[in-house]
Amino acid sequence: MNIAVFASGRGSNFSAILKAIKKGVIKADLSLLICDNPKAAVLTAAARAGIKSALVKRQDFTHKEEFENRIIQCLEEEKIDLIVLAGFMRILSPEFVQKYKGRILNIHPALLPSFKGAHAIKDAYEYGVKLTGVTVHFVDEEMDHGPIILQVPLRIKENDTLESIERKLHKIEHKIYPQAIKLWTEGKLKLSQRVVMLKDILS
Ligand code: GAR
Repeated sequence: MNIAVFASGRGSNFSAILKAIKKGVIKADLSLLICDNPKAAVLTAAARAGIKSALVKRQDFTHKEEFENRIIQCLEEEKIDLIVLAGFMRILSPEFVQKYKGRILNIHPALLPSFKGAHAIKDAYEYGVKLTGVTVHFVDEEMDHGPIILQVPLRIKENDTLESIERKLHKIEHKIYPQAIKLWTEGKLKLSQRVVMLKDILS
């Protein structure tokens, strides 16, 4: 089974997924990194780990369709079964999502459907919520939207700062994303299944 991670930035989730694969928690290969940002640290992480990466920059293509066709070509070359979005800061077209329906996962640092977008942690913090969290979901045609697979809450304490919340949320992400991917690779997730109870997987 071949997994492709799509990322645009730091790549801490990429590294957590790779670690889970190396430990045999996820029985699959991390065959490809798709990255759209030449300055992303995730590219260095992939190179260090000997994982093949493809830098596909949106600005190199006139139309979004051409950009995505190049990505599809890379995915087909590596016979990718599952796409894992890990901080990929581009919205995939409805055509792309349809093509890989049920085979694209995303992680988001908030309790969806609250605080969608690229600045979820800051937005939730500035709003003053007392409870935030992390969501892993199947991707559909809308941004940060689709059937929820896992959702873990984080209670915000009085002495928390934006930085401490970020740290705690990333720690949760690195734990639950590999778990969700494991479930998918084991065929335990169905697109129609909207919620997986945590007791089934984290105990
Ligand atoms: C993660 O916190 C992920 O949840 C978020 O981007 C970060 C990537 O971090 N994704 C979104 O906000 C999606 N809307 P990483 O590069 O260290 O894995």
